[in-house]
Amino acid sequence: MKVTVVGAGAVGASCAEYIAIKNFASEVVLVDIKENFAEGKAMDLMQCASLNGFDTKITGSTNDYTKTAGSHIAVITSGIPRKPGMTREELIGINAGIVRSVAENLIKHSPNVILIVVSNPMDTMTYLVHKATNHPANKIIGMGGALDSARFNYRLSEALGCPASDVDGMVIAAHSDTGMLPLTRLATRRGVPVSQFLATDALDKVSHETKVGGATLTAFLGTSAWYAPGAAVSQIVQAIACDQKKMVPCSVMLNGEYGQKDICLGTPVILGKNGIEKIVEVELNDAEKAKFKESADAVRVVNGDLAAVLA
Ligand code: LAC
Repeated sequence: MKVTVVGAGAVGASCAEYIAIKNFASEVVLVDIKENFAEGKAMDLMQCASLNGFDTKITGSTNDYTKTAGSHIAVITSGIPRKPGMTREELIGINAGIVRSVAENLIKHSPNVILIVVSNPMDTMTYLVHKATNHPANKIIGMGGALDSARFNYRLSEALGCPASDVDGMVIAAHSDTGMLPLTRLATRRGVPVSQFLATDALDKVSHETKVGGATLTAFLGTSAWYAPGAAVSQIVQAIACDQKKMVPCSVMLNGEYGQKDICLGTPVILGKNGIEKIVEVELNDAEKAKFKESADAVRVVNGDLAAVLA
């Protein structure tokens, strides 16, 4: 199983590291445009092999996509991350052109590749890859909900004073500060609704902190986060590589689900060797439906800015 990770920055390198440590892929190719940068990250990571006990072979390449040929899965982290005070949406002008050419290069050398889009604004970048490439819809997956759900579980565990492994929550809709929809109503602690333990104001606080999870870290770190994004990508890569049939919220092209069409937004999907094997539509109540629609309306406006790149 060969996996390519484009962009050897913090998110790409962290993703390669988690994939290697989990030891399920035979090969990871890191690609970056900066001369020798991916080669250096790959060498540093390979020097962890005997320490961390993995057999995955990691190599680096300076923008040579022939090295990615035959990849089963490719992760696109290219582009610039946000700085403190910026929204993910503000990155579109720079990142759209980059993501388009990266996706085209990957498909050229690996026609059957399953693409995982991480670059921001992620839902719009995922939509762009669909529109620019005509690659099969089951092979284009946006990474957002996996990360946002992990942040939701972190905030829930903090509020409950319990380990994150006790809680199970999911975030759907857009990967944006305002568009995320943490499903507090459906979140549980070992199967018991969290509303049994947390009052509405505590749940509202959890929800708010989840939605601004990325922005909080960007303000702390001066750039966007990488450990949880890398781990979230590795969860998706592993679910596909190991044909797990695991249910993970991802940004996918909707075709009528939630009353939406021709838009990529977060919803749980079943991931297996074919990429997206099934879209699971969550039954929402009226308030959640209204929030989902609001989120979709905002993403549609951002998608409108793709006209120049798609022309
Ligand atoms: C974040 C970036 C990856 O939420 O969007 O940290």
